[in-house]
Amino acid sequence: MTYTFGPKISSSEITPHEIYLSRRHFMGSALATGAALAASSALSATSPVALSFSQNAIPKPSDTVTDRALATTYNNFYEFGTSKSDPARNAGKFTIKPWTVEIGGEVAKPKIVGIEELFKFDLEERIYRLRCVEAWSMVIPWIGFPLSKLLAQVEPTSKARYVKFTTASKPDEMPGLSYRVLDWPYTEGLRLDEAMHPLTLLTLGMYGEVLPNQNGAPVRIVVPWKYGFKSAKSIVRIDLVTDEPKTAWNSAAPNEYGFNSNVNPAVDHPRWSQKRERRLPGFFANHDTELFNGYGEQVASLYSGIDLAKFY
Ligand code: MTE
Repeated sequence: MTYTFGPKISSSEITPHEIYLSRRHFMGSALATGAALAASSALSATSPVALSFSQNAIPKPSDTVTDRALATTYNNFYEFGTSKSDPARNAGKFTIKPWTVEIGGEVAKPKIVGIEELFKFDLEERIYRLRCVEAWSMVIPWIGFPLSKLLAQVEPTSKARYVKFTTASKPDEMPGLSYRVLDWPYTEGLRLDEAMHPLTLLTLGMYGEVLPNQNGAPVRIVVPWKYGFKSAKSIVRIDLVTDEPKTAWNSAAPNEYGFNSNVNPAVDHPRWSQKRERRLPGFFANHDTELFNGYGEQVASLYSGIDLAKFY
């Protein structure tokens, strides 16, 4: 894999934070449209569609929210190309309607969920940092609901120990699939207790609107205490499985990308340090990286007794 360091962001691309905040205030107070309505328009949208959502009690990082223009133009979504600008450039024609997510494996009640059904859950905004393994980070207001609520519906059996996520694979619409940089389709996985943790967000929107294609429309997960690659985009399958699933990055380079991939300043990537990070749009490492990306209070107990240097 080729990592590119140093964002190419022109100042004209950046939306002032105040504009985002005023839009958010407008949406928080004035939107009484209902999630179902938002869902139906979202799915036929050619331009961003606002969502109805509530705030929640999850602690917010004190950091400034990253400008939307940056979070939607500096992306990793290798199905659309490996450079940071490729997803925004190439994902425009990606068709997200119709869309279903098939949930199966070790569950009592397997089901195929239409995307409209997901938009009917109570949506909430979570401002989470996304810390990429490449040592950059952003602070993004995601909108979604805890994955645990969906998994509860399918009733995992006692054999279910892991959850595997599979991204869509549409060669006609995803030019990156013709390059074998990863073993397609993109897969990721979590332990079941990680997937059921209330911080793990099944995500349908960001910045008050449905997800742009380049950020994983129509549905992705966001796991805030893990490196960004654990947060699989454009999900079409969720399987509950007994054994640790093979995952795209872990299969590509197991010594560089472990299955756990908890954000950890004490465990360097073999080719670079993870002690600090470059909070975009900065050009240099400007923040200390925090263990579990700052969510230790909520998630550290999941790893008690585990050697995090060995199980990175
Ligand atoms: N999901 C898929 N299907 N394909 C990818 O290439 N990249 C991952 C993750 N999810 C990726 C993916 C990586 S490396 C990161 S850092 C985040 O998506 C980036 O999410 P963002 O572009 O919304 O910031």
